[in-house]
Amino acid sequence: MARHLVTSALPYINGIKHLGNMVGSMLPADVYSRYLRQRGHDVLYICATDEHGTPAELAAKEAGLSVAEFCAQAHDAQKAVYDGFELAFDYFGRSSSQQTREITQHFARKLNENGFIEERAIRQVYSPVDGRFLPDRYVEGTCPHCGYDKARGDQCEHCTRVLDPTDLLHPRSAISGSTELEVRETKHLFLLQSKLQAEVEAWIDAVSEQWPHLSTSIARKWLTEGLHDRAITRDLDWGVPVPADTWPELAAEGKVFYVWFDAPIAYIGATKEWADAARDGETRDWKSWWYEADDVRYTEFMAKDNVPFHTVMFPATELGVREPWKMVDFVKGFNWLTYYGGKFSTSQKRGVFTDAALEILPADYWRYFLIANAPESDDSSFTWEHFTATVNKDLADTLGNFVNRVLSFSRKRFGDEVPAGRAAGEAEAKLGEQIAHLLAEYEEHMEALQFRKAAAALRALWSAGNSYLEEKAPWLEIKTDADGAALTLRTAMNLIHLYAVVSEPFIPATAAAMRGAFAPENDTATWVTAEQAKALDAVTAGTAFTVPPVLFAKITEEDLESYRERFGGAPDA
Ligand code: MF3
Ligand code: ZN
Repeated sequence: MARHLVTSALPYINGIKHLGNMVGSMLPADVYSRYLRQRGHDVLYICATDEHGTPAELAAKEAGLSVAEFCAQAHDAQKAVYDGFELAFDYFGRSSSQQTREITQHFARKLNENGFIEERAIRQVYSPVDGRFLPDRYVEGTCPHCGYDKARGDQCEHCTRVLDPTDLLHPRSAISGSTELEVRETKHLFLLQSKLQAEVEAWIDAVSEQWPHLSTSIARKWLTEGLHDRAITRDLDWGVPVPADTWPELAAEGKVFYVWFDAPIAYIGATKEWADAARDGETRDWKSWWYEADDVRYTEFMAKDNVPFHTVMFPATELGVREPWKMVDFVKGFNWLTYYGGKFSTSQKRGVFTDAALEILPADYWRYFLIANAPESDDSSFTWEHFTATVNKDLADTLGNFVNRVLSFSRKRFGDEVPAGRAAGEAEAKLGEQIAHLLAEYEEHMEALQFRKAAAALRALWSAGNSYLEEKAPWLEIKTDADGAALTLRTAMNLIHLYAVVSEPFIPATAAAMRGAFAPENDTATWVTAEQAKALDAVTAGTAFTVPPVLFAKITEEDLESYRERFGGAPDA
């Protein structure tokens, strides 16, 4: 059994995330972690809110709160939604923690000692009215190429040309609207990534063979274009301060690290938060997961826009530190989930946000649908029609109905205990073979982090139960052969128990309800072996059971209509 470190891209603090964010990072990381735990591995799944940067400062200002207060509230709001989705983090920390601050400063000092950091003077737009330097995208003005009057200092959205803030005509502050802007010279720290290019390339060559094509192709593209030295500090109030012992002048000017410098380091910092949160008698060793941790397998989950930072920039940082910090072993990158083929849009209120999703249906509906349709090899599109069809067919009919039908019928005919009936026959042997085969397939896909395929194998396991039940038709059998009907029901109940165990990573609440229907002795198994799958006899005759409430309610036409109305349908072409 190995030690598995799992992280999902840190959700930015600003705003509640939509389903696209969920399916591309936290949810698959949770499903994978749950699966690994079931298989007996030592797993640590760490996530956190990514709290620094200008958007957090501006959102706080808009909310009339200090940035610290805003982030504390927003962190709790996000955590509540993730609890609702049953994301079983070992720890959900904060990039603004003291732990991340210390490790970030340590990394910067080491990079400096090793010759990978240089101070350089740059010219930047300063707004006296705002009392601050303006990041490129907070300078607005008229595009010199196309005349668009809301072009941003980094890019013109209209003609897509990349700009420098000083290119803009009639520049103004996007924060206050002030046009009284100056260009001032200011010093920043640059990370000399160009010096690390060859090492990053060699590392990618060595580690990425099994990665999804998406992850390697993005990494390669960045490396081919060449790693450029990057400014890793900013003039902001909110962030990890540049350490005064190393850069007294910059520290005195109040420079902080750029959010993308400290964010990945927060994976480590949040692990330390986890260790520091240990209660009496518990020992948690954060460092053994990250430092000289050769026995740890580290898997990262993220959407494709995050891939360059995790496959190239953060590895360059880690390599430049010249200490044996754990580097990623497997990068699971995702494409986009679209909403009717278009973008999820907060401003246009289009799409489904995670808090609203939970208002209308329990987490398991979403968890199953999203993972079964994860944008793995391509973008995939969320539509209410597809969601409804999937829920009704796979969850309500194939799984939920099977469970309720079997248990209600058995109770009606044989009472509250699993009936004995005759010994298993040919049909059961055939079923057992099939189940063992599908289970092996499921395992193979989970081990390979192929989530859509794993979901398909899970669905096939559920379907196999239905086929068996249709074939044996205990409701007819009972008329002529009560022992035969009892055997069929006992076998079907064993399938329910097996589904409860195997489906847990996808639909944990439903899995618990299915498992809770039975009360066998010593029911501690977290997995089903091939032998057990073939035998289908873990739940023995005489075991008491209850009939759980309907596991999945069908989504009706009226429901569908109301969702379309509330969340917006197809974006206008
Ligand atoms: N907050 C970033 C985003 O939402 C992701 C940061 S991942 C990290 O795109 F690990 F680097 F923090
Ligand atoms: Zn333009």
